[in-house]
Amino acid sequence: MTQSALPSTGTPWPELKARMLGYATGDVRWRDGKTAVYVFNAGPEVEQVQKEAYALFQSENGLGPAAFPSLKRMEAEVVGFGLALLHGPEGASGVITSGGTDSITMAMKAARDHARKARGVAGPLNIVIPRSAHPAFDKAAALMEIEVRRTPLKDYLADPDAMAAAADGATVMVVGSAPNFPYGLIDPIARLSALAVSRDLWLHVDACVGGYIAPFVRMNGTDIPPFDFELPGVRSMSADLHKYGYCAKGASTVFFRDKALQDFMTFDFKDWPGGRMVTPTLAGTRPGGAISAAWAVMNFLGVEGYRAKQGEVVRAREAIEAGVTAQGFAVLGRPQLGLVAFTREDVDILAVWAKLREKGWFTGITTEPKSLHLMLSPVHAQVAGAYLEDLAWAVDEVQGAAAPAQVEARYS
Ligand SMILES: Cc1ncc(COP(=O)(O)O)c(C=O)c1O
Repeated sequence: MTQSALPSTGTPWPELKARMLGYATGDVRWRDGKTAVYVFNAGPEVEQVQKEAYALFQSENGLGPAAFPSLKRMEAEVVGFGLALLHGPEGASGVITSGGTDSITMAMKAARDHARKARGVAGPLNIVIPRSAHPAFDKAAALMEIEVRRTPLKDYLADPDAMAAAADGATVMVVGSAPNFPYGLIDPIARLSALAVSRDLWLHVDACVGGYIAPFVRMNGTDIPPFDFELPGVRSMSADLHKYGYCAKGASTVFFRDKALQDFMTFDFKDWPGGRMVTPTLAGTRPGGAISAAWAVMNFLGVEGYRAKQGEVVRAREAIEAGVTAQGFAVLGRPQLGLVAFTREDVDILAVWAKLREKGWFTGITTEPKSLHLMLSPVHAQVAGAYLEDLAWAVDEVQGAAAPAQVEARYS
């Protein structure tokens, strides 16, 4: 990146706005449902609520709850909604963080400090996670110098036996995902909970993707297995508001079975000249807009609204599953929420994925085995047919190509 001088004089906002919109012309057309990664599109009404509610509190700072009781109140209400949806027992607690990585990092910090202070574990520490767990755990482990033991999967799911074998006295956390990102499948959390209870392990359920969709899909009649605080071994959970909660970006929730466990997460410092500083999450300054937008979207949708939106997501997934199966693809496992991965052995999957980009589709990939991967939003119920048509075209193109394409499995 080269240096560029800050303009010596300012530019009027209308001109800047036009230039920014010009920059965006090369972006993927997510409002048309052309992306199935990065953006959760619940339609223009929800987007409007996000924007206006964000703008109302964009300068306020969640770092100062005494100065902004409004944000404190909205955060408490959002956390309350999450705890109610995820069977938080009496005494459970939580906070809003900046995203899934923040929630996971802070849950790990709590688990680590709990191991050190409450259990007296000295020396090197480890976490045991299934191969499909999100890299946020590795990032947090790198920050805290914790060893990561990734265990093999069974039918694309966490294998509790393998995890039991990998855990030892220095294990500060075991993890299950609801669902995992690569396959969109809910790990056998009940068995992980039984393991956690029998060995006194800290089980974290990563429901960053599923926390705000699974409860509503269950209410709509799908038989979702228990995956949350209903299970006694679950000590902490991450659930992202900015994913299937359809809130503005920069908002997730991290929950604890008991406030006493959350207390291990809090950073409380006063050994400097600036006075005592207590921060619940990784951030110092916490954008008020992310909190206010989350509060507004959740109240705007309510149970009825979420059930309708999540019903559309499931409808999109079912249409795509049926369509890709008819085209000779195999769906990996039995997804129940909004993520799906599917593969075909007789075609170069990465080349198909790249061909789809030529038609404007920006979607995900899974690498084990090489598969196409979609993280669906309500809008996809309207474009599933168009996607399937373009998929059939892409497969034909790739099969008819003279030479194999060289494509790297990377989209970030
Ligand atoms: C299962 C899972 N956990 C955690 C994360 C990390 O969330 P974020 O990108 O908000 O940090 C993701 C992101 O896609 C995810 O899919």
